[in-house]
Amino acid sequence: MVSMLTVDNLTAGYDEADVVSNVSLNVIEGKITCLLGANGAGKTTLIRAILGLNNIRAGLVTFSDKDISSWATHDIASEGVTCVPEGRRVFGKMTVLENLQAGAFLERNASVVMQRLKQVYDFFPKLEERSDQLAGTMSGGEQAMLTIGRSLMSNPSLMIFDEPSLGLSPLFVKENFRIIKDINEKGMTVLLVEQNVRQTLEIAHFGYVLSQGKIVASGSVDSLKNNSELRAAYFGSA
Ligand SMILES: Nc1ncnc2c1ncn2[C@@H]1O[C@H](COP(=O)(O)OP(=O)(O)OP(=O)(O)O)[C@@H](O)[C@H]1O
Ligand SMILES: [Mg+2]
Repeated sequence: MVSMLTVDNLTAGYDEADVVSNVSLNVIEGKITCLLGANGAGKTTLIRAILGLNNIRAGLVTFSDKDISSWATHDIASEGVTCVPEGRRVFGKMTVLENLQAGAFLERNASVVMQRLKQVYDFFPKLEERSDQLAGTMSGGEQAMLTIGRSLMSNPSLMIFDEPSLGLSPLFVKENFRIIKDINEKGMTVLLVEQNVRQTLEIAHFGYVLSQGKIVASGSVDSLKNNSELRAAYFGSA
């Protein structure tokens, strides 16, 4: 097992307070690694620190054997790390097609961009049907697809999803998880950050549980499912 992204004793926060402390985790190449935690546990803070959007107070972030701890966000992106952010941030006044093209802004070769567009449309035929529609007028579920499609347009080697199921109807949640599984089965390495424990553990291979800024459990998905404390806390059964 090769760790594509390694977080080593990372501490990050805002102002005086540390929000996540001494967090260590491995995101295994070709697998889905999940990070589970309740509201306010520090999940987004941790992702933002990995992406160079929050200062790292201590610790190391290594991607494909390179120390990226102090890299700028755009350099981390061009190295192959992309994030599907919390809360579906599409460019509302741009069309679906323009949103997708924006995801490939680092690529100058137009035929490469076209090729990627075709792949994204294969995943999401609806985005092709709606390519001229203003993104802001798409439904919440469609915007969720668009943010995933836009991230795929950068041809990443690691995709980080920040609570992709948040605020979606059960049908779209199911669809979203199916898409993430599908993307992974085509070879993508995934870090899936979620609160939806049940459905996340159905598709993930390895997992970490973050509670109040600290990792409190980790291991294979099977071991997490059998952890009685976690079952009591998250599944409502002991
Ligand atoms: N920009 C900020 N400035 C100050 N404090 C912040 C900032 N962003 C987040 N926090 C605080 O950091 C803590 C962790 O927030 P974070 O957004 O990382 O949690 P989360 O696990 O992503 O939660 P959620 O599931 O609700 O998205 C919270 O107490 C939050 O209030
Ligand atoms: Mg969050």
